[in-house]
Amino acid sequence: MIKKIYDQTFESIIKNISSYVDLFLLDGIICFNQLNLSTEEQLKLMDLLSKFINFQISGTPHTEDHRHTFNRHKEPISPQDLFIEWHIENIHKETPETIACWNMTTCLTKSGAGDTVFVNMENFYAKIPEQWRIFLKDIKIKSTVKTDNNGKFLFDNDLSKTAEQSVVIVHPVTNQLVLRIPIYDDEYIVSSYQNKNLNKNDLTMMEDIKKYIKTNIADNKNIKERIIWKQGDLVVVDLFKMAHAVYGGFSAGDRILHRIWGYYNV
Ligand SMILES: [Fe+2]
Repeated sequence: MIKKIYDQTFESIIKNISSYVDLFLLDGIICFNQLNLSTEEQLKLMDLLSKFINFQISGTPHTEDHRHTFNRHKEPISPQDLFIEWHIENIHKETPETIACWNMTTCLTKSGAGDTVFVNMENFYAKIPEQWRIFLKDIKIKSTVKTDNNGKFLFDNDLSKTAEQSVVIVHPVTNQLVLRIPIYDDEYIVSSYQNKNLNKNDLTMMEDIKKYIKTNIADNKNIKERIIWKQGDLVVVDLFKMAHAVYGGFSAGDRILHRIWGYYNV
């Protein structure tokens, strides 16, 4: 479970901002229990964090009621199944939105439903076998998906104009290596290793890595980094390195969050 921070106010956070910056950079996420910030306070907090962490606030604040995700599902999603599948935010974009501040303004979800789960891809990369770590540094992929304005995935059949991207990236603030690879293997093709086609051994190693990611993230129902939401909770998360997913078990309108995006200057 992600440890929530209790009994704070907007003023107490501002007073101790540098300790929260340290926590954010270390864990990739900070979660305040029932902080109940106003939109104005949320914006002020993000503005202050952006000065310490060096990111830009992106676009206008948005109220997310998951309407578009509900439209995507024909059947209700149970609390044991994923409502939003695993992803690293906007991985296919050159300048992805990577920092999110989520203010859960409405949460009527029953306990055990609608949890958000995370895997820190900086820690994940650090723990895989050294041979894979070295190999992945020279792997490039092409994303087979794009997102429309509603964040809906669209598969892209023509990859001739799609740029290759590395999967091991230096984090712009922590300087640690992060594995930024789609969690599901139909969302990309592996386009090169050391700028050449992959040979048989390379392909085998890549298959082993994909299987490892599937077992340990996509199919793993026991992810420990989990938020059980309460109304008024406020989360600031580094989506450059935090892969995440959301479980079902709630209805439209049960779970509304106010979101502010930021992106790193990469
Ligand atoms: Fe997301």
